[in-house]
Amino acid sequence: MKLFGQRHQGLAVIVSLVLLTFVMAACGAGGGAPPSGGGPANGNNGKGCTQVGILLPESASSDRWEAKDHPLLVQGITAALGSGGHVDYNNAQGSSDTQLSQAEADLTKGDCILVVGAHDSAAAASIVAKAKAQNVPVIAYDRLIQSKDLAYYVSFDNVMVGALQGGYVASHYQTFVTANGNKNVIMINGSDTDNNAKLFYQGALSALQPLYTAGTLKKVYDKFTPNWDNATAQTEMEAALTANGNHVAIAYVANDGMANSVIAALKAQKLNGKVLVTGQDATVAGIHNILAGDQSMTVYKAIPKEAQGTVDLIKAIIAGSGAATLTNGATTMTSDGTAIPSVLETPVAVDKTNIATTVIADGYVKASDVCTGIPAGTDGVC
Ligand code: BGC
Repeated sequence: MKLFGQRHQGLAVIVSLVLLTFVMAACGAGGGAPPSGGGPANGNNGKGCTQVGILLPESASSDRWEAKDHPLLVQGITAALGSGGHVDYNNAQGSSDTQLSQAEADLTKGDCILVVGAHDSAAAASIVAKAKAQNVPVIAYDRLIQSKDLAYYVSFDNVMVGALQGGYVASHYQTFVTANGNKNVIMINGSDTDNNAKLFYQGALSALQPLYTAGTLKKVYDKFTPNWDNATAQTEMEAALTANGNHVAIAYVANDGMANSVIAALKAQKLNGKVLVTGQDATVAGIHNILAGDQSMTVYKAIPKEAQGTVDLIKAIIAGSGAATLTNGATTMTSDGTAIPSVLETPVAVDKTNIATTVIADGYVKASDVCTGIPAGTDGVC
């Protein structure tokens, strides 16, 4: 009996060793593939990772996601991983459920670092939780995710973005108020499920609230726009114009995509160019609208820097070297008070006076793309 028992123990040891070797080989090849028997896979907190998943939120809310972020992130991360590396790219097209399924699929494939531009800053916490269960770090890209388990956050100073927009109104409202004979302001904000939209609003109000309080300007309409939906922004503007008998001097609009729709509503009333319209993203359409005189300003956020900041963090995670020199001690608080190490770039206000020296000089937009239908010589650009 004793002998028999020992033989069985020996067999068990051999079977375990074979299984262990198999599991280790699978992990090595997949950069942290989940084990078939359940339990947390070892994504190794990204160290040595060769497979990265990129998850972006929408394409319709702004041209930036597919025109800039997508190609820049894929190129930069692919180069950082080198030969043998692999990048998965997905766009959730405005659905949190889709984004979660895309993240789960990435984790199943063995992606061991995730870069997530969250469609919904709160809902995406479940992506971070799933990744954490497999020791996979998540970098929140552009939009904060409300999770204490987030590894890093890369974005711009988003309160400053709003402050640049509101500050522009504060220093340019006078001519528009005089020309229109009213001091009415319409505010068309972003999606309230995007943490950034709240920060833009906060920044804008830091400049505008004192003017509202003093009675210098009057806020007559103020709405957050679900999904940053550009078509909804047009409906909102039409409603605001109707409600105020077309008496509007300023349209604070959170980004260029929605500003383009607001301008369409103004055109229908022959008010384009007469109302101060703000924007954000320095898109081709936004810069064109400034050159045409229909939009007053935009905010230029150099996405190549944001993408590079992400690539640098990924390199540090893979090397296991820590990222203190990249974040320089900067942190961002999640709603539960956790300080997330952050890389935050600086936004720049752009109007007709500095298009040439900013977005054109940087090669962010090309004169040939923004000058269609614009008279030669306009603003030193066309
Ligand atoms: C981004 C903006 C963008 C908006 C809509 C925000 O989170 O920071 O650049 O215009 O989403 O996509």
